Amino acid sequence: MNAENSGAVFQDLFQETFDEFNRQGMLRRGPHAKYYEYKQYLETLSGVPVNNLWTDIYHVNPMAKEKLGYQTQKPLPLLERIIGVSTNPGDYVFDPFCGCGTTIHAAEKLGRKWIGIDVTILAIQLIQNRLTTAFSGKTDYEVKGIPKDYQSAVALATTDGLRGRYEFHIGPLGSSRGKLSGISKKKAPISG
Ligand SMILES: C[S@@+](CC[C@H](N)C(=O)[O-])C[C@H]1O[C@@H](n2cnc3c(N)ncnc32)[C@H](O)[C@@H]1O
Repeated sequence: MNAENSGAVFQDLFQETFDEFNRQGMLRRGPHAKYYEYKQYLETLSGVPVNNLWTDIYHVNPMAKEKLGYQTQKPLPLLERIIGVSTNPGDYVFDPFCGCGTTIHAAEKLGRKWIGIDVTILAIQLIQNRLTTAFSGKTDYEVKGIPKDYQSAVALATTDGLRGRYEFHIGPLGSSRGKLSGISKKKAPISG
């Protein structure tokens, strides 16, 4: 075992320190891993493990810059925590009722791929603005289901009921006929 092939965490340590960690059984390397890792145990870490009562994340203040006019808007740190603990970078996050896009915002921030669907076109446009503001216009995504010309906008506005103006539908759930508006990270499996 050698400190040189121990990766960024240990490369500045002297071989002596590395050997000491090794003697204590505090190093590990998976069968296919390139570098060694330092083992961490719950009881030696500071802080309190997160339980299912979260009192450290606050609701979105009505005066907050974050507030987008959705009465049910969740705070961004809440969605960041949920996505952070339940997915890995590169995983897909899917919100079929994406509203003002807090899930999408958090997923983008954490390097996840994402798909959002909403029955309201305004929600999709709101999310586009939100992403532009939050990530300086650098987010790569595509939007499906928004009428692209006058005729389809008129058809959308004049067709009543669930088969008309309220039925925007997209494909990831297996439907190829519907018209829900959708927004997705580029290369996410979304279809119109
Ligand atoms: C409470 S908001 C969602 C908030 C969002 N999940 C977030 O974390 O920011 C609910 C959204 O669901 C949308 N919605 C309601 N019925 C729907 C349906 N049948 N299909 C898709 N979206 C729908 C509404 O337009 C609204 O924007």
